[in-house]
Amino acid sequence: MYDSNPTLELLNLTGKKMDEDRQGEVLFKEFEDFTEGDGSKKFYIESYGCQMNFSDSEIVASILSEANYKPTRMMEAADLILVNTCSIREKAEETVRKRLRVFEAEKKQGSLVGVLGCMAERLKSKFLEQEKLVDLVVGPDAYRDLPNLIAGAEDGEKGINVFLSREETYADIAPVRLDTNGVTAFISIMRGCDNMCSFCVVPFTRGRERSRDPLSIVAEAKDLFDKGYREVTLLGQNVDSYKWSPKSGENTEEGIVDSDVTEKVNFAQLLEMVASIHPDLRVRFSTSHPKDITDDVLHTMAKYENICKYIHLPVQSGNSRILKRMNRTYDREWYMEKIKRVYDIMPDCAISSDVIAGFCGETEEEHQETLSIMEYSNYSMSYMFVYSERPGTLAAKKYEDDIPDEVKKRRLNEIVRLQNHISLEHNKKEIGKTFKVLIEGDSKKSDKEFKGRNSQNKMLVFPKKDGLKAGDYCFVQVNSATSATLIGELVD
Ligand code: SAH
Ligand code: SF4
Ligand code: F3S
Repeated sequence: MYDSNPTLELLNLTGKKMDEDRQGEVLFKEFEDFTEGDGSKKFYIESYGCQMNFSDSEIVASILSEANYKPTRMMEAADLILVNTCSIREKAEETVRKRLRVFEAEKKQGSLVGVLGCMAERLKSKFLEQEKLVDLVVGPDAYRDLPNLIAGAEDGEKGINVFLSREETYADIAPVRLDTNGVTAFISIMRGCDNMCSFCVVPFTRGRERSRDPLSIVAEAKDLFDKGYREVTLLGQNVDSYKWSPKSGENTEEGIVDSDVTEKVNFAQLLEMVASIHPDLRVRFSTSHPKDITDDVLHTMAKYENICKYIHLPVQSGNSRILKRMNRTYDREWYMEKIKRVYDIMPDCAISSDVIAGFCGETEEEHQETLSIMEYSNYSMSYMFVYSERPGTLAAKKYEDDIPDEVKKRRLNEIVRLQNHISLEHNKKEIGKTFKVLIEGDSKKSDKEFKGRNSQNKMLVFPKKDGLKAGDYCFVQVNSATSATLIGELVD
């Protein structure tokens, strides 16, 4: 996600790395285009931003399939072009606007163009005024309305629905898996965010926090396992504040219905429910807010071998005054205690982070404290950004964005350089060790090698052996390491 320093590791919610300036990914790589002439229309979708957006695009694909729209990889062949957008930093929005210029040519050929996601929510009707070629503007909670809006747009009416819901979780919608490796999948367990980190636009674009019925989550995970998937990542802006109570009800097509769950369920309990489906189903989750991750969660992780020993625990800044300004609700010492707690309970756990350089008023000394907390925490990796002021946020209202761009960039470079060093040291310590690895497919560089991750979310690359395939577990001994990858060989 998405600043312009080429050395940056780009982040998204789940810690999947994304290439620089490739904020979006065209979905459906693996996917067969439907046969011409079966009477259905075609849609093309690009997704930008965090994994929640990628996961939402799979919900959109499911809703559209009900409306007789099938996905295509070819923009030129599409009756409907959709872009699922991100507003987290200014750069993310600029990228979307550039893509809209590219879609313009197709628009002239008669396709409809729709903007979905966080930018749709943030800009609302302004989008239709600013971007004349856009036909549809649909916010993250309004995807069920897409078929109606599309029907209207086909009759020449511009369509907008940016209603934010307190209930919508799309729990009853079976996502159409797009661009899948058949091994790992994402499951949204909650939507929205009730934290008010002062820099962040997400509470405005995604609305109030709400949790999804645990039984629908378990059913989705079980279905994935039965289809051969071996890893699920439970997704939310703040998974540790997941809570379901029997009275919360679920918004479905039939209206609000009560769940069959009779007890309250918190995140630790949900983790246990999903981990209990099968010992061969790995469970990951993202993202954790340090203030909400409980000992219960840590002990549940420790108890189940198949809950991966990896936590994305964004620090944002290592200085207590800046953390207060950011409204993160913890200070430096409290965060450091939390890190210690994680390593005490799970000495083999890897922790990663998000770091913001050059937040409003940040001094050199305060920046140094960010560097030192990164060392203390020994992050296996981090997603690192320069602060980008977002209109309407608390920080935009209260504080001046007063750190000059070149200072922000220099601080970011120091942060990136340090993280590369820490990651390399972290990985070098793995040399000689053997890890259980879930094979995800061929390595990027060679079809003679597999790639797969260990429990700590580290990517391993190793020569193939007959009889092994994607979705299998194997044991790999590490022989060498870079800051991003462990290189090894299979052991019996
Ligand atoms: N809910 C997640 C993060 C969502 S956004 C969490 O709380 O951890 C992902 C990351 O983008 C954030 O952790 C933060 O580091 C970064 N980010 C958010 N708003 C930003 C802004 N205005 N400028 C720069 N980085 C930002
Ligand atoms: Fe944004 Fe903070 Fe919510 Fe994360 S927890 S989405 S950073 S407001
Ligand atoms: Fe995700 Fe970007 Fe929205 S990070 S929640 S798509 S603003």
